Amino acid sequence: MPSISCTPFTDFGALAKKGSRIIERADNIYLWDSDGHKILDAMSGLWCVNVGYGQQALVEAATAQLQQLPFYNAFFQTATPPAIELAELLAEVTPPQFQHVFFAGSGSEGNDTVVRMVRRYWDLLGQPERKVIISRNNAYHGSTMAGASLGGMGGMHAQGGLPIPDITHIEQPYWYELGRPKGLSRDEFGLVAARWLEERILAVGPGRVAAFIGEPIQGAGGVIIPPATYWPEIQRICDKYGILLVSDEVICGFGRTGNWWGCETLGTQPDLMTFAKGVTSGYIPLGGVMVGERVARVLVEQGGEFNHGYTYSGHPVACAVALANIRLIQRERLVEHVRDDVGPYLAQQYAALMDHPLVGDAETCGLMGALVLARDKVAGTPFASEVEIGMVCRGHCFANGLIMRAVGDRMIIAPPLVISRAQIDDMMVLIRRCLDLTWADAQAKGWV
Ligand SMILES: Cc1ncc(COP(=O)(O)O)c(C=O)c1O
Repeated sequence: MPSISCTPFTDFGALAKKGSRIIERADNIYLWDSDGHKILDAMSGLWCVNVGYGQQALVEAATAQLQQLPFYNAFFQTATPPAIELAELLAEVTPPQFQHVFFAGSGSEGNDTVVRMVRRYWDLLGQPERKVIISRNNAYHGSTMAGASLGGMGGMHAQGGLPIPDITHIEQPYWYELGRPKGLSRDEFGLVAARWLEERILAVGPGRVAAFIGEPIQGAGGVIIPPATYWPEIQRICDKYGILLVSDEVICGFGRTGNWWGCETLGTQPDLMTFAKGVTSGYIPLGGVMVGERVARVLVEQGGEFNHGYTYSGHPVACAVALANIRLIQRERLVEHVRDDVGPYLAQQYAALMDHPLVGDAETCGLMGALVLARDKVAGTPFASEVEIGMVCRGHCFANGLIMRAVGDRMIIAPPLVISRAQIDDMMVLIRRCLDLTWADAQAKGWV
């Protein structure tokens, strides 16, 4: 009987019956399972292994720091050299408004910190009634009570009495499902979707709204790439009502979209940014919040103790690995590699997939990509929900040595930033093969 019987986002009953897939080792963009199968990891683990597997510089940084100082905390005005150095490097690679960082252990903890910090900010400004944080349906901001509440996943809210009070959600900027059927162009829909924020601010009462939070591109929701008009309009609305703008960069940060930060690609100047995953390329847990000048000034100058923090805030080994990781991204020019080379190349390859009978839409941004599997690609008709076409396709991916994730009818990828053009070619061969097999199933079973 395996000893691990409760794993994240898993049906425990099914796990007990079927067991788990065991991944034993990895190198570059490939994994090997316990049966010896080689698998192309087009999801970078869980959107995090940006520099790819097997990078010795990160291993050496961890080893050296474990020997020097394996742990000391950052409570009560204490710091360690790697945490100080990392704070400085983060200030260098983030937009100019960010000169301060609050470290956490994960993206969820980072977003818990966001909730505490924005409410503290408004309290210090003498506006304690500003508590409401507006987010979006189908957003993912983590799995702690605050993270899952900020997220807009119905299945998560249903378990545990969420969301917590004073968090409200507007509809997501998903053009294919919400704009296309109404005959709106992407850009027209982007403005419509952003104005849902203004409507909600007015409904709640502008004096009660503390912040708006969003992922520049929704990751776990299915790589929902918003129209170019969306984020600038969100920024305009936040500015108009003086509301803090929080960019959850847990997936989009550290080069994923072809810039260091998703907000740079999508066009906003956030007040706070959550990060995790790519900060260490997932080699060791670390997260945090970049605190912009507007918020930092109030927290520092108006002072008083911020009654919040984690044992592992600024963990020295995690910070040492993050330093090695970010320096490697800089040295290997991985952000430029995504922006100028493999990002545009992937976009071309995805555009070519539009000729496939199963593909209703194909889009990418940097190294994030999504395919919509449609029953009728011209009319945009979806498959019947009981068909679970995404899961059928995902099954073919696993069987053919490719990790691609299914979110409903959307097949999504986010490969390591080190991927080469030749490896993208290999990945596209696998993707096409899996689409063909899924299409053959759909025809044989009369789903189309
Ligand atoms: C945008 C976003 N925010 C927050 C999180 C939560 O991060 P963690 O799983 O490290 O708590 C995730 C995880 O996927 C994420 O995608």
